[in-house]
Amino acid sequence: MIDRDYNHNMTADLGLFMALCLIGLPLLLIGLPNLAWFASLFILSAIATRIMVAKVNIQDEYNPVLLWLVGGNPVGHAYRKMNNRAKTQPTLHRLTRLRRRGNTLVAQYALPPGLSFTELTKLKPVLESGLNQPLEIAMVPDNPGVVEIGLVGRFRRKIPLTEALPWLDAHPGLETWCIGMGSQELATISMDDFPHLLVVGRTGGGKTNLIKVILESLLYMGSAKLILADLKGGSDYQVFQSRLIMATTIPELLETVTQLLDLMRERQRKLLEDEHVIFESIALVIDEFANVPTAANSKTNKQEAEQAKEILNILNTILQQGRSTNIHVLIAPQRPDADTVPGTLRANLDAVVTFHVTTAVQSGVILGAGHNEAFELPAIKGRALISQAGELQQVQVFQWQQLQPNKTQGA
Ligand SMILES: Nc1ncnc2c1ncn2[C@@H]1O[C@H](COP(=O)(O)OP(=O)(O)O)[C@@H](O)[C@H]1O
Ligand SMILES: [Mg+2]
Repeated sequence: MIDRDYNHNMTADLGLFMALCLIGLPLLLIGLPNLAWFASLFILSAIATRIMVAKVNIQDEYNPVLLWLVGGNPVGHAYRKMNNRAKTQPTLHRLTRLRRRGNTLVAQYALPPGLSFTELTKLKPVLESGLNQPLEIAMVPDNPGVVEIGLVGRFRRKIPLTEALPWLDAHPGLETWCIGMGSQELATISMDDFPHLLVVGRTGGGKTNLIKVILESLLYMGSAKLILADLKGGSDYQVFQSRLIMATTIPELLETVTQLLDLMRERQRKLLEDEHVIFESIALVIDEFANVPTAANSKTNKQEAEQAKEILNILNTILQQGRSTNIHVLIAPQRPDADTVPGTLRANLDAVVTFHVTTAVQSGVILGAGHNEAFELPAIKGRALISQAGELQQVQVFQWQQLQPNKTQGA
């Protein structure tokens, strides 16, 4: 898959320049310098009017002048080529200007007669290979016969978390897993719809960084009380030590989940009395989760094995019943096999963020049989797929940055 980069300022300027050359130069050559000046001034003032009066953001548009000149409809062209259709036969007709949304060029198209939305989505891989570019196809609500098609451009490799600040500032208290940049907009997962989250991917893919992004954004928005378990010793999360509750060993984690279970029971009792009570959100985040099932299967340390089994049991209960009491869980193992994430836990995790995995089989285990998408992801740090109840979206996870000062101890 070849990525293409659209530098919109550049292409808009290039289009302007070409228009001036195509109109101005011939006029100059045939000895009409005054007309050449007039044409150039006309084009310049037309663009100035669009920017200043019509408030068109030139950066949001893909090369408007050039496209107007060449009448670009790459998607329609690819569709026609795919079917070996003659020029006169109907194709996907572009109805609107190509607009930039994130790194994607979006426009609405009319479906050619006889082609349904479902059929078009089936043709997507062929169109993509014809265009040499990934596509996103969506229905336009209340408008059958019209589809929105996005030509997905290149994802940036590093997007600092500070770029999410305007969004975070606009959503104080929002209960959401904040992940990264999607092809069109900031990608988040609603904690209301998906109370629990599974994060998988081989070592170095970016799980710990994503967890830090999630913790940082929840702290920043003030959405939830946070409990973090890092079974690798906690060194990755030292910067958070003064800002949240932390567990770094199996016995500590057992104590934490036991308290959480008690709290959940108490909240359930309160709910019986008054079904409208609103509870403060609590998120339990467990990095290096595979250590728990490994400890549970250990033959050498019997005591720890018992504790780990107890943790798995309690987590199972919380995953099943946490939603109504605002208790959320995020677990991050490297692989989601049956031995690292027991099937009963997996069944209650319908939102998944997966980084690149090394085999197609692993991708199938995470996303469902036959889904190779996590295997086909570019092996770039922070590049991930979000799966929400089976719907996939590619994102570049934010690069973690500290947004708030550490609290002084005891505060
Ligand atoms: N979204 C990202 N953007 C930029 N760099 C990243 C991103 N995610 C991870 N990295 C880099 O990759 C390295 C490994 O990431 P890490 O989160 O520790 O992976 P994992 O926990 O999956 O082993 C980190 O040092 C980090 O700097
Ligand atoms: Mg890690």
